Amino acid sequence: MPTALKALMLCLLLASPMASSATPDAMNITGCPDICGGISIQYPFGIGAGCFRHGFEIICNQTTGTPVLAGTTKSSVPVNLLSITTAEARVMLPVAWACFNSSDQVYADNDGDVHFNGDEVYRISNTHNQLVVVGCNTLGYTRSQRNEGSDYLYAYYAGCMSYCNNSHSAVDGACASIGCCHVDIPPGLTDNRMTFEVYSHKTKLDYSPCNYAFLVDRNNYTFHTADLQMNLNRTMPVWLDWAIRDNLTCDEAKKEQSYACVSTNSNCHDSSNGPGYVCNCSNGYQGNPYIAGGCTDINECEYKELYPCRGVCWNTLGSYECKCRSGWDSADPLHIPCNPNFPLAAKIVTGAIGGLFIIAIVLFIILLGKEKRKMKEFFRKNGGPIIEKVNKIKLFKKEELEQMLKTSNCIGQGGFGEVYMGYIRDQTQPVAIKKPKIDVKLANQFANEVIIQSRVLHKNIVNLIGCCLEVDVPILVYEYVSNGSLDKILHDSNRVPLDLEIRLQIAAQSAKGLAYMHSEITTPILHGDVKPANILLNEDFVPKISDFGTSRMITIEEHYTSTIIGNWGYMDPEYVQTGLYTSKSDVYSFGVVLLELFTRKKVLDPDINVLLGNFYDRQTTKKGVIELIDPEISAEGTIGIFHSLAEIILECLNLHVELRPQMADVAERLQCLLK
Ligand SMILES: *[C@@H]1O[C@H](CO)[C@@H](O)[C@H](O)[C@H]1NC(C)=O
Ligand SMILES: *[C@@H]1O[C@H](CO)[C@@H](O)[C@H](O)[C@H]1NC(C)=O
Ligand SMILES: *[C@@H]1O[C@H](CO)[C@@H](O)[C@H](O)[C@H]1NC(C)=O
Ligand SMILES: *[C@@H]1O[C@H](CO)[C@@H](O)[C@H](O)[C@H]1NC(C)=O
Ligand SMILES: *[C@@H]1O[C@H](CO)[C@@H](O)[C@H](O)[C@H]1NC(C)=O
Ligand SMILES: *[C@@H]1O[C@H](CO)[C@@H](O)[C@H](O)[C@H]1NC(C)=O
Ligand SMILES: *[C@@H]1O[C@H](CO)[C@@H](O)[C@H](O)[C@H]1NC(C)=O
Ligand SMILES: *[C@@H]1O[C@H](CO)[C@@H](O)[C@H](O)[C@H]1NC(C)=O
Repeated sequence: MPTALKALMLCLLLASPMASSATPDAMNITGCPDICGGISIQYPFGIGAGCFRHGFEIICNQTTGTPVLAGTTKSSVPVNLLSITTAEARVMLPVAWACFNSSDQVYADNDGDVHFNGDEVYRISNTHNQLVVVGCNTLGYTRSQRNEGSDYLYAYYAGCMSYCNNSHSAVDGACASIGCCHVDIPPGLTDNRMTFEVYSHKTKLDYSPCNYAFLVDRNNYTFHTADLQMNLNRTMPVWLDWAIRDNLTCDEAKKEQSYACVSTNSNCHDSSNGPGYVCNCSNGYQGNPYIAGGCTDINECEYKELYPCRGVCWNTLGSYECKCRSGWDSADPLHIPCNPNFPLAAKIVTGAIGGLFIIAIVLFIILLGKEKRKMKEFFRKNGGPIIEKVNKIKLFKKEELEQMLKTSNCIGQGGFGEVYMGYIRDQTQPVAIKKPKIDVKLANQFANEVIIQSRVLHKNIVNLIGCCLEVDVPILVYEYVSNGSLDKILHDSNRVPLDLEIRLQIAAQSAKGLAYMHSEITTPILHGDVKPANILLNEDFVPKISDFGTSRMITIEEHYTSTIIGNWGYMDPEYVQTGLYTSKSDVYSFGVVLLELFTRKKVLDPDINVLLGNFYDRQTTKKGVIELIDPEISAEGTIGIFHSLAEIILECLNLHVELRPQMADVAERLQCLLK
């Protein structure tokens, strides 16, 4: 009969495509109906041939429009719910009953056996159901799993006894063995056949004519005294556990073709009620693990109650991320709302620091502008506009030179300031950089030096290559003279041998340099500080006069100075007395230089001092000069040369200014001696 109906129904389904097209969303893509009577039918359940796994067939009763389990006998079992995720089904099962007539005999009964378990897919859920017996003077129990070999016929017996002292004994809501009793059932029940012991109901027929026993959702049934006379056609909701009952555990089933958990991201669990296994989607996935591709990623961000996130939610495959956006923070972004990274106080502090920083930058820019203006002012004050026109002098930028002014490059130091060695023109040309001390008086001297130097060009005068005027006292860049000063050469502890010829050459050429300045340029220049320290020697001992800081341009014949210039010992005594500095003052100083050059004795040496203080007796002095000549050269030289030298020196040192020779004259005579 059911098979015939099924065939009929299939025929109906196949024969009337209109029916399926009328409810297209009730149809699954492969043509199987997936809904019946509002109940979702998913694989392994299915309606119609080829739509279900063996044992999971559902029949959609066309007349009532409700799904029922297939394969049941006696009465049909309507289905309320088929859950894939929990592997449960909720069905309606009939109540078992037995009723008494006035002769105290059971005149009608129903044992409630439905035989729904033909393919053993289902087990009665012991966790969700209970056995309830209703009646006064009733002992009801179920027997399950026929077990022919043993003393008793069944493997399970479960039941309880209920009694009522009188018609008022039973109370609504209390199923406590007065009118109603209930009992837990064991797992593994595959069927249910209720039995009642027959006790007399004679005195209770008016309020309790029948015994009832039924399985029911343990949360669904509440006893009412009216149930002592309940409708015999009543059905009760019962949970069934279903599973893939292939007699296999997960581990075994996985190796089989029949393995039911076919979706990716699905897991297998051994059944907790009966043999076999159930499938579940992995964590983070939802859907039907029994069909290929059935488990799909859960977009957790859409289910805030299940997957909490108080920050920014990102769905990932199988999971989700919950973070605070950058600059915000939370100890637990899932449950604690995100807050800005730092509190208000920190913000204020940061703001204040930021403000100060901006002020500092503004100040820096102002200072920079000031510095620039200052540099321009210096440039102007230092004669920049004039010097700019002298194309012999290169004007250096402050930055160009600054890098060379390191302590490691310092080659000399003195009252005037410091001298550094460096290279210009792509590191090819060595230069000496003179960085004066910042001193207003000296400042004038250096400006003076620049202007003077810019006018002279002679091989015996140190060449000024350029200068930097962007500082308050100009920095001067000279050609580098490798052998240092004559003072150093003469008096250094490791005495460099200097033969007569070299000394004469140094003398003659120094004189030439000075003579050039005195008489060969349009506006004569007086050096003002002639001394061995200011005569530099290059690698070939060619002398170069340096340090024009104290020089004076002679615009008129004579020049008075208010301050004493030059160096004690080399200074013209006449100038000290009168304050009148002339070219003859340079000549006097040069005389002392010659004395030092040929005796190799310092000007402060007592012998020299005696000599310089005793100039009234020419002959004695001349003899004294010759006696003091450096023995290193006296041996090889002819006495005549020394006589002539002594003569020149004496003339230069003459206290009568007018009797001193001109520098050009001195140069010529020394040149003669050299020959
Ligand atoms: C359609 O039916 C097939 C076979 O019965 C089943 O595997 C599949 O899950 C169903 N599709 C949907 C979307 O329910
Ligand atoms: C469908 O429901 C009707 C009415 O309840 C019933 O008579 C019939 O037997 C049912 N069919 C099946 C296949 O259960
Ligand atoms: C009670 O039921 C039994 C069994 O069906 C029957 O034999 C008996 O006649 C009934 N008694 C009355 C009073 O109906
Ligand atoms: C039991 O029923 C009798 C008769 O109705 C009554 O007299 C008695 O009080 C009842 N006992 C209890 C404990 O309810
Ligand atoms: C019991 O189940 C029925 C049918 O599913 C339902 O209508 C009813 O509300 C349920 N009762 C309780 C108390 O859950
Ligand atoms: C119970 O069902 C039967 C047939 O299925 C019907 O004849 C009877 O009237 C019903 N009883 C009640 C109380 O509904
Ligand atoms: C399950 O195993 C039992 C014995 O272990 C066997 O009797 C039964 O036929 C098996 N059932 C299936 C469906 O394989
Ligand atoms: C399958 O997953 C659901 C939801 O994650 C869970 O409620 C259920 O208990 C799981 N079933 C098994 C057998 O682990």
